Amino acid sequence: MTTITTQTITFNVFRFNAETDYLPHYKTIEMEVTSEEVVLDILNRIKWDVDGSFSYRRSCRHGICGACAIKVNGKGVLACKERMNDLIELFGTELTLEPLSIKRAVKDMIIDKEDFWKKHEQVKPYLIDEIDEHPESENLVTPKEEAQLLEADYCIQCGLCHYSCPSLENNESYIGPAAFAAAYRFNADVRDKATLDRLDIVNAPDQGVWDCVKCFECQEVCPKEVNPIEKITKLHNQVFENGVAINNVATRHAVGFAHSIKKHGLLDEAELVRYSEGTVPMLMKHGKVGFKMFKVGKVVMPWNMPKSDKLDEVKALIKSSSTVKF
Ligand code: SF4
Ligand code: SF4
Ligand code: FES
Repeated sequence: MTTITTQTITFNVFRFNAETDYLPHYKTIEMEVTSEEVVLDILNRIKWDVDGSFSYRRSCRHGICGACAIKVNGKGVLACKERMNDLIELFGTELTLEPLSIKRAVKDMIIDKEDFWKKHEQVKPYLIDEIDEHPESENLVTPKEEAQLLEADYCIQCGLCHYSCPSLENNESYIGPAAFAAAYRFNADVRDKATLDRLDIVNAPDQGVWDCVKCFECQEVCPKEVNPIEKITKLHNQVFENGVAINNVATRHAVGFAHSIKKHGLLDEAELVRYSEGTVPMLMKHGKVGFKMFKVGKVVMPWNMPKSDKLDEVKALIKSSSTVKF
């Protein structure tokens, strides 16, 4: 039998009302928390027992509607699924409860998700095809074809990945992980005919998939294992497969990476930077660091670049696994 334990936890709770407050403040509340509780239980108790004006979103209480997403000590969580015990183990007995995005706070934990929905709308997250309004048979999708969606359709649009993404935090034009996962979901659907339209959108400079810094935060935070970074990588591949890659630093980085592995069986890091950025920009941007690295033997000259003793195996692997021609 599991024993229920109790601990005293100090909560710093973000409070703000956009209609009346100029700045937010944090209210400190001490509470006895049991090992059975989830974060939503705490939000409920703050509202019911401490201050009835405390505001947050929740609906299903089963990790389905995506409404209850907030941040605890900066970590994005679904309040109805996140166990208090796990958070206490991770952060200790002082926890800060904040909305997903402080600059979008409307009231306490509630944020304005307008940018999130607009980014979704931007990638056309619906099936596009010439519809036969009087079909003679069902338009069936086989289990194998359905598997190509790679669980992208499990997204509950909670926004956790979107408001944890550092690229989006620094660049508001960036479309973001959830919308990219949605773009992949419809591009991978055999019934859809708008792949090229969506690739135009997700391949565009500043807003597109090439601005992802591959931090994997979206994968880490997603409660539904949608794994948006995996879908972003698939969109990278679709860009090359469909011959719509734009010549920029990011696409040259992908091409240079593949060339280096094919040529040496190893990554020639200095050459990769030169190939991606161009000789003159590279010297201007990284010249000083490059020289220091060269002095301590960290930069290998092209004529001294070693080759893997398994180069033939590496080449065969690339040939058999590559879906993309650069
Ligand atoms: S991996 Fe890319 S999309 Fe995902 S959080 Fe990091 S920068 Fe954002
Ligand atoms: S991809 Fe995951 S984290 Fe992002 S909105 Fe969908 S369910 Fe939430
Ligand atoms: S209340 Fe619906 S996901 Fe938490």
